[in-house]
Amino acid sequence: MSDKNIKRFPPDFFWGAATASYQVEGGIENTDWAKAAREGSVPVCGEACDHYNRYEEDFDIAKSLGHDAHRMSVEWARIEPEEGKFDMDAIAHYQKVAQALQDRGIHPGITLWHFTLPLWFSESGGFEREDSPQIFARYCAFVVEHLKDYCHHYSTMNEPIVFASNGWLRGSWPPFKRFLLLDGISITNSGRQHEARYKKGFAPFFLYLRVVKNLTRAHNAAYDAIKHVLLASDVSVVKHVILFHANKNPFNKILAKFMNWWWTHRFMKQVYMKCDSIGLNYYFHRKFGDTAVYKKTDMDWDIYPEGIEESLMMLTRYNKPLYVSESGIADARDIYRADYIRGQVEGVWRAIQRGADVRGHFYWSLLDNYEWALGFEKRFGLVEVDFKTQKRVIRPSAYIYKAICEQNAIE
Ligand code: FCB
Repeated sequence: MSDKNIKRFPPDFFWGAATASYQVEGGIENTDWAKAAREGSVPVCGEACDHYNRYEEDFDIAKSLGHDAHRMSVEWARIEPEEGKFDMDAIAHYQKVAQALQDRGIHPGITLWHFTLPLWFSESGGFEREDSPQIFARYCAFVVEHLKDYCHHYSTMNEPIVFASNGWLRGSWPPFKRFLLLDGISITNSGRQHEARYKKGFAPFFLYLRVVKNLTRAHNAAYDAIKHVLLASDVSVVKHVILFHANKNPFNKILAKFMNWWWTHRFMKQVYMKCDSIGLNYYFHRKFGDTAVYKKTDMDWDIYPEGIEESLMMLTRYNKPLYVSESGIADARDIYRADYIRGQVEGVWRAIQRGADVRGHFYWSLLDNYEWALGFEKRFGLVEVDFKTQKRVIRPSAYIYKAICEQNAIE
């Protein structure tokens, strides 16, 4: 392969994978999701990948796969099990986890909240509460105060619009409040198959708007609180972007523009001033007026890895460093994953050539894990997990990604 066919990434580019505490750790019972599982509304998470006990083994695997960074999250319900009471053992655990990454030369990035809420908070109204931003900021400041010697990269929250839409529009995730009575809009991993089980509690639209508003306030308050504790931190929000695009039809173009505003920019405009960087989670696109037939992932999502390029370009208007905080594919047979990874990495490279300041790429996910309302069936991992024995087996595609990580380039 001649040198001109090699697509190199900037020096110091971070390569790794992402996980989220509730999806991998196991043994978390005091959250809204655990309660919903006890009530039969979502699958039981149980032991998950037992990552709480096996993180060292899992980070050894990440290291063996050439990763030099890892996006993890900490579990709010473990750290603040009662309102205003913080658990020092829980925080000591996460200090050990972050240290275990450092020991392996893997740079940690910590998401402070990834979907699951402590029960005391969700039961008292969660992000519908007027004072939720202050509650959230206090929690974030506490975590950063205790993890600041181990980590400088923090994301306040993961995919706030997915959280609010699934919770208050579709009603498919806790707290199962439903505004969309029509069910044509399958926005994201909300578990269509399980819809029969949803409680169809109706929620007025303003409640969704209130939650979104409180999430923007919560991010902004958390940013200030974190900066107060650790000025040198890099604080981001992780935004799920759906790439809405269109064929040549002008009406479709306007529709795509509106949907990009509705899903991405409406939120980002409220928070970007208090972001040192932005995380992009990219999984899919919706092309209006498109008649093409796409291959599908096990989530039934179009296989369209190249959409990551335009998704990154959409975020360049905020003039911040960008990270691909998640992008991946559910593919139990591992037949599409290698090409998918190549496709998205090339898309990231093209975005960088076009001026996007992308600093890192985190594949979702290191391990197969609990895929929310869809349980354990959907397999996103570079590493296959047998949930009965907890045995880990590295998938062939993980080695394709390893070569990219190690060479900081793709051929
Ligand atoms: C994202 C979530 C992540 C995972 C992937 C498949 O929306 O952030 O937790 O479920 O989808």
